[in-house]
Amino acid sequence: MEKLIFANANDRELNFKDKIFSVAAKYDEAVKAGNKDAVNATIGALIDDSGKLVVFQSVVDCLKNLAPEDYARYAPISGIPAYIEVAQKLAFGSHKPDMYTAACYTPGGTGALRLFVSNYTKIGDSVITSDWYWANYKSICTELQRSLTTYPLVDKDGKYNVAGLEEKVAEALKTQDTLGIIINTPAHNPTGFSLTGEDWDKVLEMIRRKAPAESGKKITILVDAAYIDYTGDPDAERAFVKKFEKNPDNILCLMAYSASKAFTMYGMRCGALVCMTNNKDICVEFENVARFSARATWSNGVRAAQTVVANMYNDPKLREKLEAEREASNKMLLRRGKVFEEAAKKCGLVTVPFDAGFFIAIPCDDPDAVCELIFKRGLFPVPLAKGIRVALSAVNEEQCKWIPGVIKECMDEYYGK
Ligand SMILES: Cc1ncc(COP(=O)(O)O)c(C=O)c1O
Repeated sequence: MEKLIFANANDRELNFKDKIFSVAAKYDEAVKAGNKDAVNATIGALIDDSGKLVVFQSVVDCLKNLAPEDYARYAPISGIPAYIEVAQKLAFGSHKPDMYTAACYTPGGTGALRLFVSNYTKIGDSVITSDWYWANYKSICTELQRSLTTYPLVDKDGKYNVAGLEEKVAEALKTQDTLGIIINTPAHNPTGFSLTGEDWDKVLEMIRRKAPAESGKKITILVDAAYIDYTGDPDAERAFVKKFEKNPDNILCLMAYSASKAFTMYGMRCGALVCMTNNKDICVEFENVARFSARATWSNGVRAAQTVVANMYNDPKLREKLEAEREASNKMLLRRGKVFEEAAKKCGLVTVPFDAGFFIAIPCDDPDAVCELIFKRGLFPVPLAKGIRVALSAVNEEQCKWIPGVIKECMDEYYGK
């Protein structure tokens, strides 16, 4: 718990240390000390094979063509109408569910997560996610006076652990009549794990069984789809949203859509919270509560970012250019993942089952100590609670051949093998 001088904790368990930035600082020190070959495996943004940040030229061109009005004027609180429409098209791909749907602009996926926690869980509630999770989930829950409860992401066979989720759902429903669940899929951060269609069937069957309509329980599932466009078949990966069509009114599914990675617009802060329900009133209520929270948190969103996303989607030529650039980056990333997996297999390094995305993770019970050994070898991955995270987004293919061996050797050294 951090000690405060003047500010108020207000029951929040404040933690000011950021693991990722502290490892990145160590990398900078190593470079300053003369290690030209040091490898920064912390960055959650796409870096090309020559070490430069990938910025899609089509996005740059679209941005440069904006009229002054496009960035100077306030945007409506929920987002400009063209963006609200396009955000849903981007979220659903060719799988738009036959349900009432709505969306609210948010500054990135982060804003969407915040809207979800503040409106669909109660103060004091525990929100459920898997034990490997993006650290900001905890910060958002803490900030909003909720807690985060976790279950093991995979079972002993390396499959999605629906039974583990069920156990936590049952526990929470003993004391809570509302429950929020965050599922980060596909290409989960920090593991690259994805739920299959069958996993989704099991999750939804379990939730409907645990919270039958007559139980009075309300469950909201937030699908964090931040990395959905960096998968083997991004449109096919969206098929799971059709499964929500069978949801009764007491089960609400929301999606946090983010343009950060999909448009290489990390700093432009553009995302959306997307609602899918079979009940018209719940959909209208979503629009109202999202707008209220947005007004009270960031107020108007980034008009330029929304305009770029809407214009790019609606202009076939721009869209084609964007999709070609994204596909090239995606292929680069998928290749890195494949090369990493092959090298890991060769040297006997065990990873959490990886499907796609920006990150791959190695389970380890003393990640801080093992990472100290790894840092000495000039490699800088991130030690997390459950293991070590390597950002495939930040390292090139050659480095992907080398990294697993280094990690394995350091683990063997630490565990005395
Ligand atoms: C799992 C996950 N969800 C959501 C986000 C949100 O990103 P942004 O707010 O930049 O869209 C990130 C960003 O790193 C992430 O890793």
